[in-house]
Amino acid sequence: MQFDVRRFPVVTSTMDVARDLAEQGAPEGLVVVADEQTAGRGRVGRAWYSPPGQSLYLSLLLRPALHPRRISWLTMIGALTILDCISQFSIPNSQLSIKWFNDVLLNGRKLAGVLVEASFVADRLDYAILGIGLNVNTRFADAPEEVRRRATSLREAFGREFDRDVALDRLLAAFGARYGRLPASPLADYIGHLETLGRPVRLCAGDEIIEGTAVRVEEDGALVVMTAAGERVVTFGEVVSG
Ligand code: BTN
Repeated sequence: MQFDVRRFPVVTSTMDVARDLAEQGAPEGLVVVADEQTAGRGRVGRAWYSPPGQSLYLSLLLRPALHPRRISWLTMIGALTILDCISQFSIPNSQLSIKWFNDVLLNGRKLAGVLVEASFVADRLDYAILGIGLNVNTRFADAPEEVRRRATSLREAFGREFDRDVALDRLLAAFGARYGRLPASPLADYIGHLETLGRPVRLCAGDEIIEGTAVRVEEDGALVVMTAAGERVVTFGEVVSG
């Protein structure tokens, strides 16, 4: 895959810039990278802490021939790509895991997140924007309390600075390789790194709290939870405790 990397000093969200360019007809492979985001966003309406000059905030424009029910594969590929990239920094794989659905954890703390936003024409996927936030050198002293409690960065975990450009190059190379395997399903690889399965979970799904044991992930990315009342298939939500 050919990447066209566009860098911006500051944006609201790289997702917004990528979407504007997608609407203008930009081809697949466009990558919007920002040094700072003033309104970086995550899943379930969360903000993404995006201070200037410390970490990687990027959005990739994709136009895959993918059935709308398989869009979650892009999130899986994004999370796996982050693991591929980080393990090249000689970080033991055992310290890295994926928490359903889109969280990459380092020693149990959130290191990176993936956000996919898609646009459809009739029933067909027109484009998808895959956003990645990777806490490379983030310092959390000024971060909101909630972020300080749960997040980490490579710098914080290993006590040294990491090169963001090297991380970006590795990320894009890893993404190209994983994306090139479509239409093969990334599910088995994804499950191989998922820390959520077989464990008791508490999920926040809209207004509802679902508790039980995470038993499997469906092909479309839904998490199946065995609750006291039987199996529940959760398509959208967040694991709030394991
Ligand atoms: C999550 O963990 O909920 C997803 C976080 C995704 C953050 C990235 S940073 C680059 C891109 N721009 C955004 O506003 N969000 C994504």
